[in-house]
Amino acid sequence: MKQLTYLLHFLLRFNFSKLSLEDENNDKSQEGINKASKGGLIYGEYLQLNKILNAQELESEKKGKKIHDEHLFIVTHQAYELWFKQILWEMDSVRVIFQNGHVRDERNMLKVITRMNRISLILKLLVEQFSVLETMTALDFFDFRYYLSPASGFQSLQFRLLENKIGVPQSLRVPYNRRHYRDNFKGQDHELLLQSEQEPTLLQLVEAWLERTPGLDSEEFDFWGQFEENVLKGLEEEFALIQAKAESEEKDDLLSEFQKQRDILLSLFDEKRHEHLLSKGERRLSYKALKGALMIYFYREEPRFQVPFQLLTSLMDLDVLMTKWRYNHVCLVHRMIGGKAGTGGSSGYHYLRSTVRYK
Ligand code: HEM
Repeated sequence: MKQLTYLLHFLLRFNFSKLSLEDENNDKSQEGINKASKGGLIYGEYLQLNKILNAQELESEKKGKKIHDEHLFIVTHQAYELWFKQILWEMDSVRVIFQNGHVRDERNMLKVITRMNRISLILKLLVEQFSVLETMTALDFFDFRYYLSPASGFQSLQFRLLENKIGVPQSLRVPYNRRHYRDNFKGQDHELLLQSEQEPTLLQLVEAWLERTPGLDSEEFDFWGQFEENVLKGLEEEFALIQAKAESEEKDDLLSEFQKQRDILLSLFDEKRHEHLLSKGERRLSYKALKGALMIYFYREEPRFQVPFQLLTSLMDLDVLMTKWRYNHVCLVHRMIGGKAGTGGSSGYHYLRSTVRYK
């Protein structure tokens, strides 16, 4: 049996090589006209590769002690910054669609979702990309780290713009050496950051859109009242089931879990509590927008809510991926410098770990 399989493999391979020989005699791969020889736009010029590929200047080399891995360090950061640029490009276009009210046109909704998904795919790539830099050992990094100070990712303009445009609120930002993050930027960069803080964020635009969820203010169907009724009924049924159980440790655990769940669910119907959580930054959507989001979530199978539901899903993806980015970055930092201070002067690992909580 084994021999037969080998024979089959051999015959197949032989046939393939025969095919490729035939192809060579009738070589279609060499057909066509070399248009570039007639002049016009050239690949390298179009992409300005002259600038990009000559932008890797090793500080270690300048200081007379070239360290091999610094090249990887530079290229990795540059690749990140290029992708940040693309994300900002997509994000700005999505914000413009929302801002101009064009989101009411279903065709634009599809555009928004396509672009949001594109952002997610890029972020997935960026989350993974740290692993390439992890092929550098902490000792190799140590060989050129000294030359980098005081430069730091903390000064990445595009990363800050991204955070601001998505909606990281200034009030929740972790201070850096007790200073405002913007103090690190001057001139035009400073202006761009100020502007991004004043413009409506993606979160605010989505909030305004959710507040207009069709059917939310309908006289015929009281979604919120109906929802509250169902929640109360569900809670009552669950409580009765737990109560019917014989006294045991398991019953106590179920009861305490039930109390927690009940508190969370009932808090949904307490507008004052919502406002309080909003002021602390623990909730991020207005009460009305929250109702809209829940309505879309529960009625996601209705044709009119399918696309809005996809948008909500892509926003959750974005949130999770940003957290994963922060998490992978902080793991890389710990691996490279442990608990040492950053080249930018922050407490390093500890500072970065505290930013993972941004939502
Ligand atoms: C050896 C690899 C790396 C180390 C040791 C490192 C270290 C650090 C440290 C310690 C900070 C805190 C600020 C400071 O005191 O300097 C920081 C911030 C930052 N780094 Fe890195 N980093 C590395 C790779 C990267 C890469 C590949 C990127 C991609 C762009 C990046 C982007 C950033 C950004 C955006 C911040 C600001 C984060 C915030 O404030 O929330 N880092 N990095």
